[in-house]
Amino acid sequence: MPRNVAAELPVVLDRAAGAALPQQLADGLRDRVRTGELRPGWRLPSTRDLARQLRVSRAVVQAAYDQLHAEGWLVSRVGAGTYAAEVGTHSGDGRPRGRATSRTPARPPDPGRRISLEPGVPWTEPVPTATWRRAWREVSAATPPPGYPDPAGLPELRAVVAEHLGRVRGIACSPDEVLVTAGTSHGLRLLLGAGFRPGARVGVEDPGYAAAVRCVRAAGMGVLDCPVDADGLVVAALPARRAPAAVYVTPAHQYPSGGRLPAARRQALVDWARRHDVLVVEDDYDGEFRYDVAPLPALAQLDRGNVVYLGTASKTIGPALRVGWLVAEAHVVRTIARHRASIGDLPPWPAQRALVALFRDGHLDHAVKRARRRYAERRRLVCDVLAPYGTVAGSDAGMHVTLLLPEGTDDGAVRRAAAAAGVDVGALSDLRRTSRGPSGLVVGYGSCADTELARGLRVLAEALEPKG
Ligand SMILES: Cc1ncc(COP(=O)(O)O)c(C=O)c1O
Repeated sequence: MPRNVAAELPVVLDRAAGAALPQQLADGLRDRVRTGELRPGWRLPSTRDLARQLRVSRAVVQAAYDQLHAEGWLVSRVGAGTYAAEVGTHSGDGRPRGRATSRTPARPPDPGRRISLEPGVPWTEPVPTATWRRAWREVSAATPPPGYPDPAGLPELRAVVAEHLGRVRGIACSPDEVLVTAGTSHGLRLLLGAGFRPGARVGVEDPGYAAAVRCVRAAGMGVLDCPVDADGLVVAALPARRAPAAVYVTPAHQYPSGGRLPAARRQALVDWARRHDVLVVEDDYDGEFRYDVAPLPALAQLDRGNVVYLGTASKTIGPALRVGWLVAEAHVVRTIARHRASIGDLPPWPAQRALVALFRDGHLDHAVKRARRRYAERRRLVCDVLAPYGTVAGSDAGMHVTLLLPEGTDDGAVRRAAAAAGVDVGALSDLRRTSRGPSGLVVGYGSCADTELARGLRVLAEALEPKG
């Protein structure tokens, strides 16, 4: 018998007492979950076994289980029994405040919980769809292939990613131009490790993505700070002499300022890269999300030879999966794959196999469509609440906006005031290196619940109110 089955449940039923047996049993079990004697995730005996132990009918046990289900103390897994629910603190009505499951009723968020309005984390609620479960069932039913995995990634996954990118991003590529990664930063690290001289320089937007800067430095390379304006990377400011070996850029939604690089600048960037033999690294981290604006061509659509494209499942399925993709010319993919195999950095099979099924069954398209609708509503709320306090930038795309603050405002002080009130948010000045420019808040609206967003924005507005 597995260790986590509560084989013995010492509930005493008093047949002479006034209370009905199902009620007595429910009270006894509830006490055991509440005190932690029955730990979260422990399986309860079947109704038949418990009825036999307690010498009552199965209907008595079933009625008690049903009541505790409805109250959220117990959860069921289809075909797998009844379990003690994950129980945190107790809400005022005496019901548990635990992680919601398909059987626990949805509860309002804990007012004591921190609210994250930090950028970068998507909305991936609610519980997985049938497609998600089917994908993982397929993984569990399949046998892992013998030997080490293909260092470029599972061939079936590379094929579905190529098809997906052609369909949704207009990037025509073949499976041998796709390499499976563990996300954007990992893709960047693999690329930088596979063919650049240590000491070479990489241009990174300023303000920009701190993880990209860290990846460049970790590869032993230098960082060239590249200026950004309201439209994104200022291509005209890229050096005409002593060009860097590569430039990392976020054209779909400049991180963090939010600009969408206009078509003319995109063309100018790939022309400049070609002239100076520079590799452009296109980070398309939230390119799936844009609102009421026309699509713009990915840089990888304009030029494959000088552009390496980085995509990620972090914003659609979730960052915990750690899967992304890199698109480059086939010989570049082979070089990275060789380098990667030589250092034992191989993509694990289960997540890749599940992702094949998720792509195939339309889970990604579905998730993006739902999230897009949700973000479009949230973005409106964010813009409405924050507009009186500065200039809201970057709301056309992605899942964060940047609130540019009036001159002289210390964004760090606002961030700290909000944090003290339980709301975490990004400060633009933390993402600047040598650039000068307005201070601001980087406000993500992806990860929190709707009610948390409204509350978090109220706290931010309070922190932004002029004092004195
Ligand atoms: C600019 C940028 N790129 C990429 C990512 C995603 O990174 P990963 O794919 O490693 O999860 C993020 C996440 O916040 C980001 O802000």
